[in-house]
Amino acid sequence: MTRIAVFPGSFDPMTNAHLDVARRASGLFDRLVVGVLNNPKKAPLFAIEERVALIERCVADLGPHVSVDAFDGLTVDFARHHDAGFIVRGLRAVSDFEAELQMALTNRKLAPEIDTTFLMTALEYGYVSSSLTKEVARFGGDIGPMVPGPVAEALVRRMAAEARV
Ligand code: PNS
Repeated sequence: MTRIAVFPGSFDPMTNAHLDVARRASGLFDRLVVGVLNNPKKAPLFAIEERVALIERCVADLGPHVSVDAFDGLTVDFARHHDAGFIVRGLRAVSDFEAELQMALTNRKLAPEIDTTFLMTALEYGYVSSSLTKEVARFGGDIGPMVPGPVAEALVRRMAAEARV
């Protein structure tokens, strides 16, 4: 039996907390598809193609069973499209739990055959979020501990470009 999971998110951009969850999940499932939500309404900093390309670089060493794909619409439809029986989400702190529980129960109502599995982020990344990382980068703070190398470079470049406008 092949165990397939999707790991959905906005990933604007991928952080070390996300990557830590992807790494843990890659050891648990036969196939893992990182799903990048294309939601133009959220006005992301990075376009969908940029986010997918950055994540591909970040997960390159996790193995050929890990892939990245963009999606729009429902996560459960994305999961079904990939024949996945599992949705992976990371939990950093208790504060994440309520929203995640609501999403998991909604997804279960929509697709009872798909289970959401939660993985605890490593303690050292418990404070890391995409939005705060963007804020720190915008004001020139050190984002090195928060995001993978390719993301840090892309953030610094993007903030410098924005500052020139
Ligand atoms: O990284 P995020 O922003 O916390 O990820 C949230 C995400 C993308 C997993 C969630 O918004 C989502 O699943 N969106 C797709 C729409 C959907 O399926 N909604 C119903 C279930 S929550």
